[in-house]
Amino acid sequence: MPKIAVFPGSFDPLTNGHVAIISRGLALFDKVVVAVTVNPRKTPLFSSQERVKLIEEAFLGEARLEVRILEGLLAPWARDLKAVAIIRGLRALQDFEYELQMAQMNRHLAPQLDTIFLPTEATGSYISSSLVKEVASFGGDVESLVPPHVNEALLGRFQKLVEPSGPGVEE
Ligand code: COA
Repeated sequence: MPKIAVFPGSFDPLTNGHVAIISRGLALFDKVVVAVTVNPRKTPLFSSQERVKLIEEAFLGEARLEVRILEGLLAPWARDLKAVAIIRGLRALQDFEYELQMAQMNRHLAPQLDTIFLPTEATGSYISSSLVKEVASFGGDVESLVPPHVNEALLGRFQKLVEPSGPGVEE
């Protein structure tokens, strides 16, 4: 039986931190299924389909990676996929409490699933998708924090906001 792991998240958008966790997941498991979640507490910049495409584009040619949209509960969904593990990246201590709660709840819902925490690279501990979006929205440089095609997607999305307004134009 191939060992399948699920890596869930909002991925709005994919960052180099996520890319590193997916790559490390592929080194540990036979297959990684990235679950792009619909989080009712977040208003996404990119649609679920756009987020899926951005992830797929980062791993073109990687047959052991699958990207799917998840609209419901993670644990039964992952169990139905015959996954053995849920992968989560841990960036800093503040992630831990929330992650532990989720891991315990998921274990309660699907006891056959384990959560594997992968510590992020030291350089990635300050990255989050929200911060990347905020910096990009003000025209800041996020080129080294996201894959090139994600940077382009961000530039395209925020282009209107960073275009200088003409002379004499006031709010
Ligand atoms: N590199 C860069 N950023 C990272 C990262 C890494 N390695 N790991 C986490 N992050 C960032 C994300 O970019 C995200 O930033 P944002 O909040 O600015 O968007 C943040 O850390 C954490 O978000 P994410 O990993 O997307 O998780 P989440 O908190 O939005 O959702 C789910 C967590 C998807 C696992 C959870 O909501 C879920 O399981 N949903 C399905 C419904 C369900 O089963 N609920 C019950 C759960 S017990």
